[in-house]
Amino acid sequence: MSLTPTLEALIRQMPKTELHLHIEGSLEPELMFAIAQRNQIKLRFNSVEEVRAAYDFHNLQSFLDIYYEGAQVLIHQQDFYDLTRAYLDKMASENVRHVEIFFDPQTHTERGVAFETVIKGIHQALVDAQSAYGISSRLILCFLRHLSETEAMLTLEQALPFKQWITAVGLDSSEVGHPPEKFKTVFDRARNEGFLTVAHAGEEGPPEYIWQALDLLKVSRIDHGVRCLEDAALMERLKQARMPLTVCPLSNIKLRVFDDMRQHNLKTLLAQGLCVTINSDDPAYFGGYVTENYLAVQNALNLSVEQLIQLAKNSFEASFLSEAEKAPHIRELDHLLQECAISTR
Ligand code: HPA
Ligand code: ZN
Repeated sequence: MSLTPTLEALIRQMPKTELHLHIEGSLEPELMFAIAQRNQIKLRFNSVEEVRAAYDFHNLQSFLDIYYEGAQVLIHQQDFYDLTRAYLDKMASENVRHVEIFFDPQTHTERGVAFETVIKGIHQALVDAQSAYGISSRLILCFLRHLSETEAMLTLEQALPFKQWITAVGLDSSEVGHPPEKFKTVFDRARNEGFLTVAHAGEEGPPEYIWQALDLLKVSRIDHGVRCLEDAALMERLKQARMPLTVCPLSNIKLRVFDDMRQHNLKTLLAQGLCVTINSDDPAYFGGYVTENYLAVQNALNLSVEQLIQLAKNSFEASFLSEAEKAPHIRELDHLLQECAISTR
């Protein structure tokens, strides 16, 4: 079934945020090649088409292996700037008003790239996009959970001089076998230093990991979280706390968390009163930016105008913007809903 033009127009027109985006996962093959060439790095692929053909994943790990490989072309501050700027240029064209971006410093510091090089390039692009497009942003430092807590602690220490540029810390990479409890001490320290916290949980890992993220890491949002539906008590907890889930539909299909978009549980989670948001995760690898994620969900699950606008409102509600910063966007979405109601009367 194809979308009615009016719903597609609504999705494109709605003011939106993106709250689950790994900046390294926005590296399009064209930019990968351009940066590899100027850094004199030889890729094992001969063309952009060959790179895209390799993006055939069967689970999270099969994706991560190629995602870390792609990130190796990033060496200089300008590379991190160009990567981030390309993403923000795209967001400006999609009516995305605010972004909260993950970066994985350990993917770079492990290769000898300085923490400072990474963050300065990303930060400058965020500042420039605010002046060029009025897109506001926050930065979230993710620890790689397949590495040790000691290594995460070292990374946190490297981040302290740049504290004013980083809003929160998060947890990503291989989930199963690396539960949130492994990082309790470093998250305690991060909160003491004034950072907010988030964590990937319940993407491939069990509902127990979501409980741990809430109770041990004291997160403000759960990234993915779709396996919460297996645990009724957890559903109740998430609902009562209005705990946001940053769901990434195209990612979930590409990494086979669900077989098919029609089987995705997003509509059920929304109907049960959870604060669900739609995000792209790693758009260069999963075949779509945030708008394409909305369109794919709409196409498969047939959401109502009210549900689409609720998802966009949730994206502002779940963000780290202040209430005063959220208000005009939410008002605009309320007006859009009224206009839709008038035009269909
Ligand atoms: N899950 C875990 N780690 C990641 C992801 C993801 O979806 N994307 C990039 N790193
Ligand atoms: Zn992610």
